[in-house]
Amino acid sequence: MTEIPAPSTFKVKSFGCQMNVYDGERMAEMLTAEGMTVVAEGENADLVVLNTCHIREKAVDKAYSDVGRLTRDDGSRPMIALAGCVAQAEGSEAQRRSKMIDLVVGPQAYHRLPAMVAAVGRGERPVDTDMPAISKFEALPARRKSAPSAFLTVQEGCDKFCTYCVVPYTRGAEISRAFADIVGEAQTLVDGGAREITLLGQNVNAWAGGLDKLIHAIAEIDGLKRIRYTTSHPADMTDELIAAHGEVDKLMPHLHLPVQSGSDVVLKAMNRSHSVESYLRTIKKVRAARPGIAISGDFIVGFPGETDEDFADTLAIVDAVGYASAYSFKYSARPGTPAATMEGAVDPQVMDDRLQRLQARLAEHSLAFNRATIGQDTRILVDRKGRLPGQMIGKSPWLQSIFVETEAAIGTMLDVTVTHALRNSLGGVLRNVEGAA
Ligand code: 5AD
Ligand code: SF4
Repeated sequence: MTEIPAPSTFKVKSFGCQMNVYDGERMAEMLTAEGMTVVAEGENADLVVLNTCHIREKAVDKAYSDVGRLTRDDGSRPMIALAGCVAQAEGSEAQRRSKMIDLVVGPQAYHRLPAMVAAVGRGERPVDTDMPAISKFEALPARRKSAPSAFLTVQEGCDKFCTYCVVPYTRGAEISRAFADIVGEAQTLVDGGAREITLLGQNVNAWAGGLDKLIHAIAEIDGLKRIRYTTSHPADMTDELIAAHGEVDKLMPHLHLPVQSGSDVVLKAMNRSHSVESYLRTIKKVRAARPGIAISGDFIVGFPGETDEDFADTLAIVDAVGYASAYSFKYSARPGTPAATMEGAVDPQVMDDRLQRLQARLAEHSLAFNRATIGQDTRILVDRKGRLPGQMIGKSPWLQSIFVETEAAIGTMLDVTVTHALRNSLGGVLRNVEGAA
């Protein structure tokens, strides 16, 4: 066995959803609190944490090939931790398939990562995929620094059991963090520099205490400018939460509300617990509460049994809602889920064709949404550099990325006028920099 000394440097690579990004940040904070330092991009680390995603096919193969690529030119390799949802699903099987994986840690157990790293140093190969009743959050160190736009996980897991989805198996049952813990973490993030907080959960709007109450409470924090939340289930859009969109100025006018399909037959087979009609009713109420709100969504094409008519219904709901943006996927059978053994597999070519047509339709709507903002005065929170020197990019309230020519730093709020719009990005001219006259 290769001798592995105690790591002094590390790198966390996160794939998949925003909850994984959040988990990756917390793991990095924990390792830093243990005295390790994060390495710069492109440099070798003593410890690499691969924080994996399991949502679609080939995720597992990708994780193993990512592990394989960690071998260095001289044949040595870092200590390797497999984390995230592939780790949860594979468990100790991961170490049978790849000798390079020193430890396996699931998404609910990563507060034990430092102890597991120490165990590797003693020659062990620890695996921890427990879903303990006492949450990891209590065991994590306090947060110190934050980017201007921060994620905050408030809820994890899912009890919905959509028939195509692995999440209820990899992330476990729905759990909600306590109100005081969340508000405390939000305050710490703001103290550490956050100006925008996105509340996260696989079913964020199923947060047990009523997400509207949480949003109202967090909006009281001085220095916090913007609140967002994702991902929501249509069946959990309560009237109170919808009303919050009209009541809380800091709550940004954007809602990610996946529908998956526009056919009631398919929605039923997916076990989605909402219908086309109930979904459209919800959208109408949301728009009444917050006119101009941007709606985004997720779609799956080629679910088992999906007919041409079902797919036409999906195009119809796209037109009915007029999504500002959307993610769309080909159905991918996930072993262990009910849909994986359903009959009526859709021909791969038909799936390709439907995905292309859906994406073309979604692109038209994104472009239309963005074009409608041309000429408007709005405000962006700068979050990164643009491609050209002297250019910065920030997010509008509607979650559009807008380019401007400015020297303003990341984290600055800028007043801009939108001048042009493409499908995925917009350009604007600067009217005023925050803090200036
Ligand atoms: N196949 C294709 N897409 C899927 N998603 C979840 N599971 C699958 C699957 N088995 C999509 C859904 C979900 C998004 C996060 O990923 O659209 O909303
Ligand atoms: Fe998966 Fe459905 Fe739960 Fe979303 S609501 S995580 S799609 S089972």
